[in-house]
Amino acid sequence: MSVTTLPKVELHLHIEGAAPPSFIRGLAAEKKIDISGIFNERGEYKYTDFWHFLEIYEAATSTLQSPEDFRRLTRAVLAESAASGVVYTEAFLSPDFCGGRDVGAWREYLAAMIEAADEAERQDGITMRGIVTCIRHFGPEKAKETAICAAETAGDWLTGFGIGGDERAGELSDFSWAFDCAREAGLRLTAHAGEWTGPESVREAVDVLHCERIGHGVRAIEDLALVDRLAEDGIVLEVCPGSNVVLGVYPDWRSHPIEKLRARGVKVTVSTDDPPFFHTSMEREFQMLHDTFDWDEGVFDEITRTSLDAAFCDGETRSRIE
Ligand code: ADE
Ligand code: ZN
Repeated sequence: MSVTTLPKVELHLHIEGAAPPSFIRGLAAEKKIDISGIFNERGEYKYTDFWHFLEIYEAATSTLQSPEDFRRLTRAVLAESAASGVVYTEAFLSPDFCGGRDVGAWREYLAAMIEAADEAERQDGITMRGIVTCIRHFGPEKAKETAICAAETAGDWLTGFGIGGDERAGELSDFSWAFDCAREAGLRLTAHAGEWTGPESVREAVDVLHCERIGHGVRAIEDLALVDRLAEDGIVLEVCPGSNVVLGVYPDWRSHPIEKLRARGVKVTVSTDDPPFFHTSMEREFQMLHDTFDWDEGVFDEITRTSLDAAFCDGETRSRIE
């Protein structure tokens, strides 16, 4: 089978993390910012482990300084996704990098990203929706301001709220205020958990923050009672196998638990996280899943159906994509 022609739905993509290195190099040259140290001799992003990855990520993001930069970025990212067969994508957007969590500035950045998304929908047939994400290692106070930005702009396009960053910084419960604020504004919830910390963090995301989806969540596999509960409650995992393998959460694709989780009844979906950082694309993720676990068209159909059902967009948008 060929995975190339399969329509793909992606639920976990960081907009800055999807920036092609050539795009960031171009911006750095325009603005005379020296970030040459973040690239290797092949011009790819260079880092040693997850925590260094976060530093390089933030250095790359320092070149993105205006709504126009984010408009161009969004257009470039959606062109890449569409080329990989993606028909619908939900991207994490960070007011921390878009005007420093000032609501007025954030509205301008958001409008620019929506403009690019509308153009991509017309030209490339890809639909995008946004999820505001706070950054865990920036702390709960900044997360509150981020949640207010999200709540002020919640609607048909800005549909969710989440948290990324260093899972080992603070407790998830420190972010309850931000998640309650977002939920009360009608936003749907997801949190990075079970990537760098164990099953307990996944439980906390569900029980304390009331998330219906979990970013990664793969380390739930270390507690089968939790796995069964996720299956029973229909909690959806945004699994990014290529990211987990490159960052060393698992040593190789064979050891990745995505198939075990699926076989035990958990709703798993497939995403890229930060494609150029992990040398991946949705097409490559599908190809590797086919090669490693023998996933066939039937399994990919099931994954895409699960992803669409778990998408944070409204029903009318979903039925247009189906
Ligand atoms: N931000 C971008 N990629 C991330 C990841 N894999 N985990 C946590 N935060 C992130
Ligand atoms: Zn992520």
